[in-house]
Amino acid sequence: MTELISREIHLVSRPDGLPVPANFQLVERSLKPTESEIVVQNLLMSVDPAMRPALSNNQTKLDEAMPGGAIGKIVNSTSSEYPEGSYVSHRSGFREFHLSDGSDLTIVEPQGEPISTHLHVLGGTGLTAYGGLLVTGQLQNGENVFVSAAAGAVGSVACQIAKIHGCRVAGSCGSDAKVDYLLNEIGIDYAFNYKTSSIAKELHKGLPEGIDVYFENVGGAHLDAACGQMRPLGRIPVCGMISAYNNKGARSEGVTTLSNMIYNRVTMKGFVVYEFVEMREKFLSDMRDWMRDGKMKYSETIMDGIENAPAALIGLLQGENTGKMLVRLADE
Ligand SMILES: NC(=O)c1ccc[n+]([C@@H]2O[C@H](COP(=O)([O-])OP(=O)(O)OC[C@H]3O[C@@H](n4cnc5c(N)ncnc54)[C@H](OP(=O)(O)O)[C@@H]3O)[C@@H](O)[C@H]2O)c1
Repeated sequence: MTELISREIHLVSRPDGLPVPANFQLVERSLKPTESEIVVQNLLMSVDPAMRPALSNNQTKLDEAMPGGAIGKIVNSTSSEYPEGSYVSHRSGFREFHLSDGSDLTIVEPQGEPISTHLHVLGGTGLTAYGGLLVTGQLQNGENVFVSAAAGAVGSVACQIAKIHGCRVAGSCGSDAKVDYLLNEIGIDYAFNYKTSSIAKELHKGLPEGIDVYFENVGGAHLDAACGQMRPLGRIPVCGMISAYNNKGARSEGVTTLSNMIYNRVTMKGFVVYEFVEMREKFLSDMRDWMRDGKMKYSETIMDGIENAPAALIGLLQGENTGKMLVRLADE
């Protein structure tokens, strides 16, 4: 294949607090694929909260294309395993084209659903909510469940899995429009805007019997309020703590209610999505059934063009997304 021009996003300085556009640079590169290299044109890339701590802790290198989940289409290949026209997922987002020997590619085979769903409800985001709630959280039918960052990608899936299990579900989010989305589209029982209300008071109202499972996405004041209202044998699967990610060392605000864990014998356990890869087939089958039955809905916030990827990340950290934040890099 002849030379390709690919634009990519580099981290050029490490942010102090919320990232700013000047921390990133759009760089144009000329790529010359060898005979054996598979050429992937990236179509969509995922924007994830975990990218923020990685900007500060040296996981993301300066002056090279940033890593991140993406789905692309193979546009040049001599490999029978990865033929031209196939969709693949990989970790080399933040660039328009990716050259590969195949070892980092996973074939994605949509069954009628939009390809983008493999970056959220049918991808890692969905598996995070599924495994976090059912395995780490040991969710039982009919329990009282609180989900923070409930209108986001993981949170909105967690809310719906809990509803499918007959639970009473309360969710927190950062705007009145998201409260409306949670109540009227996602269909949970109680939702509140944590920016304009007391989290502890809202939890008393929304889950008056207390909380059996708190699906933790936020940390800090959310954990403080929820931990104080956990019921006997309650579980707190710790998925993320986004309120801390812009802080030095991702240190969260203090929590004062941990003593409630003692007599109520509450379990708090962190998890990472990689723990659940062996459940992937069962997860995909359940999710496709739920989507087909109208029990699992999703929303996407899509920004266009690689040049907008930094703005998408900065926007995600400020709550500009409902559902999954994605960047479209090329049309299918
Ligand atoms: N353990 C794992 O393997 C794993 C995998 C994926 C994701 N996660 C975690 O899951 C959580 C959600 O991730 P996601 O990809 O689904 O992102 P997301 O919820 O779609 O987007 C992030 C949301 O966080 C909220 N937020 C931002 N700053 C906040 C703050 N200071 N306090 C409260 N809320 C804040 C914003 O919504 P509002 O408008 O509601 O504020 C924003 O829309 C994150 O903590 C992430 O790190 C963990």
